[in-house]
Amino acid sequence: MEDLLIGQTLAFAADPFAEGPEAARHVSRGAVLVRDGKIAVTGDAVTLRAAHPDARVHDYGEALISAGFIDAHMHYPQTGIIASWGKRLIDWLNTYTFPEEMRFSDPAYAAEVAGRYFDLALANGTTTMASYCTIHPESVDAFFTAARERGLRAFAGKTCMDRNAPDGLRDTAQSAYDDSKRLLEKWHGVDRLSYVITPRFSPTSTPAQLEALGTLWSEKPTCLMQTHLSEQHDEIEWVRSLFPDARDYLDTYERFLLLGPGAVFGHAIHLTERERDRLYEVGASLVHCPTSNTFIGSGLFDMAGLMAQGQRIGLATDTGGGSSFSMLRTMAAAYEVAQLRHVALHPAQLWWLATQGSARALRIEDRVGNLMPGMEADIVVIDLASTPAIAQRATRAGDIWEALFPTIMMGDDRAVRAVWVGGKPVAPAERT
Ligand code: GUN
Ligand code: ZN
Repeated sequence: MEDLLIGQTLAFAADPFAEGPEAARHVSRGAVLVRDGKIAVTGDAVTLRAAHPDARVHDYGEALISAGFIDAHMHYPQTGIIASWGKRLIDWLNTYTFPEEMRFSDPAYAAEVAGRYFDLALANGTTTMASYCTIHPESVDAFFTAARERGLRAFAGKTCMDRNAPDGLRDTAQSAYDDSKRLLEKWHGVDRLSYVITPRFSPTSTPAQLEALGTLWSEKPTCLMQTHLSEQHDEIEWVRSLFPDARDYLDTYERFLLLGPGAVFGHAIHLTERERDRLYEVGASLVHCPTSNTFIGSGLFDMAGLMAQGQRIGLATDTGGGSSFSMLRTMAAAYEVAQLRHVALHPAQLWWLATQGSARALRIEDRVGNLMPGMEADIVVIDLASTPAIAQRATRAGDIWEALFPTIMMGDDRAVRAVWVGGKPVAPAERT
């Protein structure tokens, strides 16, 4: 059986940071034919309807059909503490995050939060996510079990910490290696799931633990490795005092073989010249977390400068450091942060970041993140008039970008009309 989704369609033939908005492909009465979990054909609605008369038709009218959003950095265990008041990074970790993460020693609690997190993400049109778990192996099982039940392409790993974390929230170099390896062998490549080697950040890992995880990564090179880099000035000073021999923050990973093409660095705000050059040279990924960077007071990511350098950059909510599950809200924050650096990101660039950009950061751009034949059918359908304020603004639109930008700036889960995962519509109950 084939499904034919009809509406406005938006895809990308190239990177709008390199080619401008012309890189996008918009069809105002377009269609996407879905077969066996994949996008089989895209084109205009009249032609595809005629060519596939037996397909089940889903006519979304004026709504926009796009690849589902990809959230390249988040912490599902922080779902319950999102929007906690008044702290900066280290204080925020100690006050809110670590006590909450402690609760994930209970598998039932981990399963409850994982289910709630995925329902929230899907309600916001996010179809792929890369998450940190907690130090507890059970928290990884809970994440992957819930992702698998929903048929999602998802990434996660056991967060490793063997110092500067409270009792009950520390592993060791050896147990981090052993548990990560066991979980990796259990989950990596199962259905649409990928394991990610996950040292939290260098302040909470001893050199011995970083070395053990570097060894694991060289033994399992098809995995990604995710961690945090240069988020706040205090954190960078702390890293300097903990690793006095390191050239810079990046070097605390590099010297333990935790730098390579599959390395995914969250935040990456306050980078030195050497760090930028080295990240580019090895083809590592950077993930911009704009709602988090403003909420925790971290700083203004240099999107224009890093893109001009050719870096591989994704976009993410960083929940619960970030203050929203919505990639629309996250695009709006990325726009606002760039404005504070005197750069106006185009809606095509924002949309590309939330789909193809994040797919490239996670090295899955050949599978998801674009409406193209052969891609997996993870799709979001966006209502471009989801609230009265957006609707009255959208009526003035002269083109797709003017129609889309009010939803980027003011939209949320109310704009998400439908979500498809692996070629199947997600039940509305899981989206609300
Ligand atoms: N750095 C180390 N851990 C974290 C975390 O959980 N959230 C954020 N935003 N930064 C971190
Ligand atoms: Zn994070």
